[in-house]
Amino acid sequence: MTANKRIVLSSDHAALQTRQAIAEHIAALGWEVVDIGPTTTESTHYPIHGKAAAERVASGDCGLGIILCGTGQGIMMAANKVQGIRCGACCDTFSARMIRQHNDANMLALGVRVTGEGLALDIVDAFLNAEFEGGRHATRVDMIEAS
Ligand code: RB5
Repeated sequence: MTANKRIVLSSDHAALQTRQAIAEHIAALGWEVVDIGPTTTESTHYPIHGKAAAERVASGDCGLGIILCGTGQGIMMAANKVQGIRCGACCDTFSARMIRQHNDANMLALGVRVTGEGLALDIVDAFLNAEFEGGRHATRVDMIEAS
C-alpha cells in the first residue's frame, strides 16, 4: 500500500457516474479522494483530464490515480506521456493486481464502455490492495524510467 493515501480521480464525460461510484467506494475505505472532475457530462477531451490527473501523481501530491474514459485506452495514453507515470488500462482484476505487483503502476485506467460498475469496483480493489514486489521487477521498472 502506498504511504500517500491521497488518490486523484478524473475522467472524461463518458465516465462521470462510474467515477463518482469509485470515489464513494474508496473514500469509505479510508482514501482521501481528490476528484478533479469534470463535474458534468458535457462532451470533453480525455487527454486534458488524463494529463491533469497524471500531473497530480507525478508531482507527489497524490500517491495514486484512477482515470476513466469510454475504453480506458485514450486517457491511459495521455497519462503515460507524463514523466514518472506508469498507468495500465485494465478490464480484469488479475491485470490490476499485476500492474501494481510487477510494474509498480501508479495509475489505473478503466473503460466504462467495456467494464460494468460492479467489476470496475472490484478492479479498483485489486489495484489498491496489491503491493509492488520490488527485486527483479524494480530493475525492469528502472529500465522503463530510464528510457
Ligand atoms: C469518447 O467518446 C471516447 O472516445 C473516450 O471516452 C475514450 O473511449 C477514448 O479513448
